[in-house]
Amino acid sequence: MTTQPTTFARHLNPDPVPEEARAAILAAPGFGTSFSDHMVRIDWSGDVEKGTGRWSDPRIEPYGPLVLDPAAAVLHYGQEIFEGLKAYRHADGSVWTFRAEANAARLNRSARRLALPELPEQLFLDSLRELVAVDEQWVPDGDGESLYLRPFMVATEAFLGVRPSRQALYAVIASPAGNYFGGTVKPVDIWLSRDYARAGRGGTGAAKCGGNYAASLVAQMEGDAHGCQQVMFLDRDRGDAVEELGGMNVFFVHGGDTLVTPELTGTILEGVTRKSIIQLAKDRGMNVQERRFTLDEWREGWRTGTITEAFACGTAAVITPIGRLVSAEETIGDEGARPGEVTMDLRRQLLEIQTGRAEDPHGWLTRLV
Ligand SMILES: Cc1ncc(COP(=O)(O)O)c(C=O)c1O
Repeated sequence: MTTQPTTFARHLNPDPVPEEARAAILAAPGFGTSFSDHMVRIDWSGDVEKGTGRWSDPRIEPYGPLVLDPAAAVLHYGQEIFEGLKAYRHADGSVWTFRAEANAARLNRSARRLALPELPEQLFLDSLRELVAVDEQWVPDGDGESLYLRPFMVATEAFLGVRPSRQALYAVIASPAGNYFGGTVKPVDIWLSRDYARAGRGGTGAAKCGGNYAASLVAQMEGDAHGCQQVMFLDRDRGDAVEELGGMNVFFVHGGDTLVTPELTGTILEGVTRKSIIQLAKDRGMNVQERRFTLDEWREGWRTGTITEAFACGTAAVITPIGRLVSAEETIGDEGARPGEVTMDLRRQLLEIQTGRAEDPHGWLTRLV
């Protein structure tokens, strides 16, 4: 059994970012380039094969480099998982997270797949609360802005044999975030990866582990070279079934009242945003279908006008309209297409719940500070 500590020691940063410099960062946060003054650290030792282990010494530390043994398992065999979620400042100054329990559960699904220890859900939630409590001034309050929280776990045992590490580190860092794709919402072009797969049957596609992202980078470079912001991956073995983007799930609007999204086959990451959109669409009476959706269906639906909108979704960029799907052979979608109505309405509704401007009917928000 993995046991759980309860209190966090606070080692405050003696040299925090000066107030003026922080204000300059918060004036234009960008994404993932600046970090708050502190981080969370919790160490684990045990044996996942035997189901034993202990999380110990939870603490807040000054943000700074990690010291790892050059033989640490993560540096050789990539035993690493992570999460991504946001803390939103509401109009009354309070700070909230959105469905953090879903991230805690997903971290543990990833942990099981990567043979890393599970982290008790309460410890995950406490780690976010502790970090945001000490770094509260880092939560921006501009429209669409937030403090992005990045929990992660790495295998730290110094041992070159290939087996699950008997030591691990869980940490959380925080980074103020603006609008992911910058400025106003406009449809993004997506590159269709023909040569690379992100995940395969029995692989790690459903886990949020670093290796999946490393494997997507050459495809991302190909997309960049063709002026596209994200890459779409297909499942070749299922008749060119649409899977997901390198970092976002996808949805298609059929005839205005049906929403289709690729079903979870084990090769797709189950997004918290995806799950929330499915619920919000059902709440408004839409017909939501989680099923196989192929490239042929997309092409045909666009040609005949039955697919009226396509969008991508994820924590970082919330909901982003897809303009065109571009590949060497063809382009699906119209140049200069405007964001769809359903897309923008779901986006507005989700953002209003996250930022406390609308009622939270499903109890998705948790107050941190
Ligand atoms: C591969 C992948 N798919 C989907 C998502 C969307 O997940 P979420 O909505 O939980 O951010 C992400 C982002 O975390 C991702 O990296």
